[in-house]
Amino acid sequence: MVPSDSKSFIDAFVMKTAPAPCDENMGLVSLVGAGPGDPELMTVRAVRRLEAAEVVLHDNLISDDVLAMVPKHAELINVGKRCGDPKDRGLQQQEIHDLLLLHCRRGLRVVRLKCGDPFVFGRGGEEVEFLAKHGVSAEVVPGITTALGAAASCQVPLTHRSYGANQVRFVVGQSKAHALPDLDWSALARETPTQTVVFYMGLKSLSSICERLRSHGAASDTPMALVESATMPGERAFYGTLETMPELAKKQEAGDSGPVIIFVGPTAAFPSNIQASSSRPLKRARVEVSTLC
Ligand SMILES: C[S@@+](CC[C@H](N)C(=O)[O-])C[C@H]1O[C@@H](n2cnc3c(N)ncnc32)[C@H](O)[C@@H]1O
Repeated sequence: MVPSDSKSFIDAFVMKTAPAPCDENMGLVSLVGAGPGDPELMTVRAVRRLEAAEVVLHDNLISDDVLAMVPKHAELINVGKRCGDPKDRGLQQQEIHDLLLLHCRRGLRVVRLKCGDPFVFGRGGEEVEFLAKHGVSAEVVPGITTALGAAASCQVPLTHRSYGANQVRFVVGQSKAHALPDLDWSALARETPTQTVVFYMGLKSLSSICERLRSHGAASDTPMALVESATMPGERAFYGTLETMPELAKKQEAGDSGPVIIFVGPTAAFPSNIQASSSRPLKRARVEVSTLC
């Protein structure tokens, strides 16, 4: 029987869907996607897991607004390992694995809180594998990945028939060695007119990305959008092209105030086109529109 009020319904739903521990003495581990930063973008299940957590291990990129939702009684552990971040505690992935297991073995409800989605450039797979090897079946709660959060917030449609954009790629912008990743750059460049490529962790390689795409034949005037602190109060968005974006990003000190995600493809020009076609200036709170011209 479904309870009539929505809170009881959610409670019943969450109880029904929460994974049962394999061993009675074991706790529960949930890999929870926190989304790109705005807490309103979290799923109902993510919020419920956070509310019930006894230990929360989180990344540096989790927004303050989301962290504020962690219950006061829960132990909050920053396991962030973002390069160059002063809050970086330098934990290696193995140490994070060990902590997850340790707290789970203490019989606690553990939330591993990750920005965006745990399975999109989030090392969620590695954590699930490690836990499984030790007899723990982790639950994964999806989150809105940054590409989707930023696209919605800045109104960059990832596909659009009139723009010819009929495919989307999420790629990583730097390799482990902080160099350009081993991608099929010819294919990326060739398909630029018909796809949206979203680069995660691409700021440090921005100039190389633009140069590499152009040297493989992508048009210099291919639209680009760069979004800093997507969906968060300090969100900034910049619009340019493969040719202009490196200089624009440098001039605007992009990345100094928050993480950055990069869009390449025809629809990156959508927000500017919408502005231009509107009969009055479209003012959107929190979004600063800048171009080089
Ligand atoms: C390790 S990846 C994690 C991705 C995450 N799992 C997801 O699904 O969005 C970190 C990268 O995500 C992007 N990112 C995360 N949060 C962001 C935000 N609020 N605004 C812009 N980029 C963000 C940046 O490119 C950052 O370097």
